Amino acid sequence: MTTSNAARDIDTSRPHSARMYDYYLGGKDHFEVDKQAAETVAAAYPGIFTCALENRAFMHRATRVLAREHGIRQWLDIGTGIPTEPNLHQVAQSVVPEARVVYADNDPLVLKYAERLMRSTTQGRTTYVEADVNDPGTLLNSPALAEILDLDQPVALSLNALMHFVTDAQDPYGIVGRLLEVLPSGSALALSHCTPDFDPATWQKVTDIYTGAGTPVQFRAQKDVARFFDGLDLLSPGVTVGHRWRPDGPVEATDAEVSLWTGVGIKP
Ligand SMILES: C[S@@+](CC[C@H](N)C(=O)[O-])C[C@H]1O[C@@H](n2cnc3c(N)ncnc32)[C@H](O)[C@@H]1O
Repeated sequence: MTTSNAARDIDTSRPHSARMYDYYLGGKDHFEVDKQAAETVAAAYPGIFTCALENRAFMHRATRVLAREHGIRQWLDIGTGIPTEPNLHQVAQSVVPEARVVYADNDPLVLKYAERLMRSTTQGRTTYVEADVNDPGTLLNSPALAEILDLDQPVALSLNALMHFVTDAQDPYGIVGRLLEVLPSGSALALSHCTPDFDPATWQKVTDIYTGAGTPVQFRAQKDVARFFDGLDLLSPGVTVGHRWRPDGPVEATDAEVSLWTGVGIKP
């Protein structure tokens, strides 16, 4: 495990997105300040719990499809979140025990629980890097990443429920482009992203709550989420509401409840 600033204290004076997300998923790794903010979001948008669960379910399906059908054996998962079983490496290693996964997040609480992300199979490898997606160069040059990932072989870049924390002013498309450009042909992008498309008024409230709590967000329309896949071969069914991306069973939630665009693309 590496950390850019291991001495940083956990900040309990304001809500953090990773800890609010943990609350939505029914986890226990959050503080009162996170619970209060998460409940404010839920009062405005009761679908948030479904959205969070469908987001995890998309990650499970996308990971399995990439391992089974596209020969992916390595993942770089940025914005990992507080560990929630099954974590990505557990899903991947259930298909390919030798799968290697590098996790990265910028929240010190995720770092605190990172040992849970390192319970790898003996054939596979995992590690955790404390890193900010806004500085892709530092992450890509990290010795821990180099130890686990062979960048001459395909890697799946997993950016789930992350890029809506990167506003247009922070150059989100440039960041994803820089991450993808170092990956070889056959690599993949799996991405999920919250959207205001189905209920703009509600999502304006959610935007205001996060921004007011010190976490700027930019929830994007389908066409703007699709831009992240420019230059990639988008797998069917394209950029789709999360629960409609290759569902395992009947689709029950509404699109407005889920409010999450998802997609998987392969680098030609
Ligand atoms: C909503 S959670 C998603 C967790 C996981 N990817 C999933 O889909 O289940 C968003 C995560 O992104 C992390 N995050 C937010 N901004 C980030 C940044 N600039 N760099 C790295 N991680 C970030 C948060 O700390 C949080 O853990």
